[in-house]
Amino acid sequence: MTQNLIDPFARAITYLRLSVTDRCDFRCVYCMSENMSFLPKKELLTLEELDRLCSSFIQLGVKKLRITGGEPLVRRGIMTFFEAMSRHLDSGALDELTLTTNGSQLEKFAPQLAAAGVKRINVSLDTLDEAKFAEITRWGRLPQVLRGLDAAQSAGLRVKLNTVALKEFNEDELITLTQFCADRDMDLTFIEVMPMGDIGNENRLGQYWSLKDLRAELEKNYSVVDLTERTGGPARYLRLEETGQKIGLITPLSHNFCESCNRVRITCTGEIYTCLGQEGKSDLRQPLRDYPEDDHALEAAIRAAIAGKPKGHDFDYSRQELGGQMSRHMSHTGG
Ligand code: 5AD
Ligand code: SF4
Repeated sequence: MTQNLIDPFARAITYLRLSVTDRCDFRCVYCMSENMSFLPKKELLTLEELDRLCSSFIQLGVKKLRITGGEPLVRRGIMTFFEAMSRHLDSGALDELTLTTNGSQLEKFAPQLAAAGVKRINVSLDTLDEAKFAEITRWGRLPQVLRGLDAAQSAGLRVKLNTVALKEFNEDELITLTQFCADRDMDLTFIEVMPMGDIGNENRLGQYWSLKDLRAELEKNYSVVDLTERTGGPARYLRLEETGQKIGLITPLSHNFCESCNRVRITCTGEIYTCLGQEGKSDLRQPLRDYPEDDHALEAAIRAAIAGKPKGHDFDYSRQELGGQMSRHMSHTGG
């Protein structure tokens, strides 16, 4: 038996978030600059390397795998990877295969994702207004994403919307978005905007809206009940009595979830980040490439990375401004 991954603070690592591309067909203002430069293809892990990497983690006890980006569905051949991962679902080694997507390619891929064993997906959607959608995503078009949502639900995928809370942008859509999700039986999670990457001076649309204020706003319209369940990450959940909906609130700058942290993130170039809020990383691509036929070096590198997982992260929440600015992009490490 191989020993599962346990970090120095006795946390079992059971959740891997893997970015499969830094590219995206949108240019959301809080995420990317208009003229982003992307990595050359040779820097990216190949589909085979992604498979070896995930399979090693699964063998070491990872039960949940989330595929992120950039936009994962713009990576060429990515369905082959999803189909390959379904063998781990079939064997019972993996409990869940999920993805976070902007929804633009769902119309095309939803049936294949469902066939590969994906049961739930997260779709990022910040507004239901066509003009505002085009403004915030620059290159995205709302009707395409709405058709994607339909396709996903028709394929039997359970959908959760992720909405970045932006003051003076979607503040006025809180109830519309909530009702939209209630009507379509979708869960909804609001995410506080995070200071990430150098994305130019676009912050006119990136105004911080505290989820405490958002919650107070919800309370004016619904009876809000706190739920105690946690998923080992930064999300907290509440229920709206009137609609029966579960609403998630993600405040990535708070650090009250570190004790129960069960996850690591890997970039599309094979760098492993063991803490969302710290720059500490190590490289898994080298061992993958140095030993194409043998995963021992890879496994050793994974164990070494987990052995260095920090106790908690370094966002300084005591400063009123958004401190602890990260130099890396969300599209690089994945959300
Ligand atoms: N702050 C908060 N959320 C962000 N996302 C991307 N950049 C940021 C940011 N700076 C979100 C996307 C998506 C998820 C993967 O990450 O909107 O919901
Ligand atoms: Fe693409 Fe998501 Fe970044 Fe928007 S937030 S540009 S959809 S990766």
